[in-house]
Amino acid sequence: MIILSIETSCDETAISLVQTDGEFPSATYEILGNALHSQIDIHAEFGGVFPQVAKREHALALVPMLISALSQAELLEPSEGGLASLKHDDVEKITTVLEREDGLATFLLEFLSKYSLPEINMIAVTSGPGLEPALWVGISFAKALAQVIGCPVVPVNHMEGHVLASLYDVEIDNALAPIKFPAVALLVSGGHTEIVLMKDWGKYEKIGQTRDDAVGEAFDKVARLMGLPYPGGPEIGRRAEIARKANVPPYKEVLPRPMLHSDDFDFSFSGLKTAVRYAIDGATLTEDEKNALARDFEDAAIEVLLKKTQKAIDHYDAQTLIIGGGVSANNYLRNTFTESLLKSHPHVEIYLPHRNLSTDNSVMIALAGHAQLATARSAGAIQFISASGNRSL
Ligand code: KG4
Ligand code: ZN
Repeated sequence: MIILSIETSCDETAISLVQTDGEFPSATYEILGNALHSQIDIHAEFGGVFPQVAKREHALALVPMLISALSQAELLEPSEGGLASLKHDDVEKITTVLEREDGLATFLLEFLSKYSLPEINMIAVTSGPGLEPALWVGISFAKALAQVIGCPVVPVNHMEGHVLASLYDVEIDNALAPIKFPAVALLVSGGHTEIVLMKDWGKYEKIGQTRDDAVGEAFDKVARLMGLPYPGGPEIGRRAEIARKANVPPYKEVLPRPMLHSDDFDFSFSGLKTAVRYAIDGATLTEDEKNALARDFEDAAIEVLLKKTQKAIDHYDAQTLIIGGGVSANNYLRNTFTESLLKSHPHVEIYLPHRNLSTDNSVMIALAGHAQLATARSAGAIQFISASGNRSL
């Protein structure tokens, strides 16, 4: 089947076309088209993501991303009869469904006057978690496309997308790793930091989470305190690497490791951020000092992530560790986890996402859509979103 997937939960507008062969979880997934527009430049001006700004940008980018994904997949065909070839109430339904989406109805109708939509078997769309206005643009767009194509829309959990992206081997066999259960997933992004226990495919139980800031958010806020550009994660990572190579001493004092010894699998990162603020204490840092402080922060954040994850692996006797989400792009995290686990838990297989699939993307949404379909099928019911609202089929 061909899945069209849409991701608009935060500041990336992404659309993919993925061809599946077989049943989840042993299917293969060929990426026919994968288009992504990042809003980072716009949000960098404000130092963070504002939901209404994100929503407007998604509305502008969705049709161009659709064109790009279709054209990569060689599925972009001119329309024979233009808008006249649509079913008579399609135009009306598209207009109604996209009413509040900043001109998206006009962009889609303009697209449909030039191009036709290919046969797609299902549309997978992120339905949460994420920024509400941003999510709704994607969901409404999915509904409008489904109206024209005549296919179901499957709502997808963004975090399940991150888990499956980490298991997807895009370079060798285009398939998900056949993992051993129980598995522990550490999900580290700009909006979330959580440890999830996975007893089987589709069976997730959140066993720990941050009580305040997500770790990616802490990277971003610390970068901002140091006057570094948004998003801060990659920049902190780059600078920390320089400091580590040069073996520079810590900037002032050792930063705290919040909740390192707490009797649970929860995290807290806002105190660490505040400790960085106190360490800077209004001073203008030299480049070397910025690098040292970036390294000190990264050391503290990753140590807590590692220790809590090791504790969860022990507690649940996990056979597999999956790390996903934007912060899993961090080199130091990747190396530290791989090296430490090899020593402490040599029997545990560790899965990290391909670098292109670490941060938000829509390929992971297609994978999660396929998983969702399998789970729903085995339960005998599937929750589709229809053009006229939510209903169970
Ligand atoms: O998963 P993601 O793309 O979006 C959310 O679902 O939040 O994660 C974005 C987060 C940002 O906070 C960003 O700073 C962080 O991932 N990030 C990194 C790196 N690349 C992205 N953090 C540390 N090191 C990196 N190399
Ligand atoms: Zn994400």
